[in-house]
Amino acid sequence: MSDKELIQEAIKAREMSYSPYSDYKVGAALLCKSGEVFRGCNIESATYSPTNCAERTAFFKAISEGEREFETIAIIGGKDNETTDEKTYFYPCGVCRQVMTEFCGGDFRIITAKSEDDFIVSTLAELMPHSIVPKK
Ligand code: THU
Repeated sequence: MSDKELIQEAIKAREMSYSPYSDYKVGAALLCKSGEVFRGCNIESATYSPTNCAERTAFFKAISEGEREFETIAIIGGKDNETTDEKTYFYPCGVCRQVMTEFCGGDFRIITAKSEDDFIVSTLAELMPHSIVPKK
């Protein structure tokens, strides 16, 4: 699957965002080494703290279906009125980066997209230096 196709999956995932409190709609699409793609959206709560980010939703869906090896994640998001024309690349939060570190090596690819044609590719090693790595 191309980066552009993965971003298209993230755009579809974002349509499912449940974000009445922040108005940020975020979508993620996680490409597993098996070739399967898992979509995730952010899911908020009236008590705020149970909020789950789009990236972790995608990871937890994949892990709970038995996937353990991951290639790339595409992320797209923004404020409600900017969802068709993002103004910023939406990078994963620290908690999501730690979850990625649990399951991915430093070469795991993270695509932050404004659109399917405008995106940046980073590696987990770049976004999570000096990380606490899992016990293997
Ligand atoms: N959010 C994500 O979905 N991913 C991130 O990496 C950062 C934040 C969501 C959580 C919340 O619903 C909204 O964006 C505002 O923080």
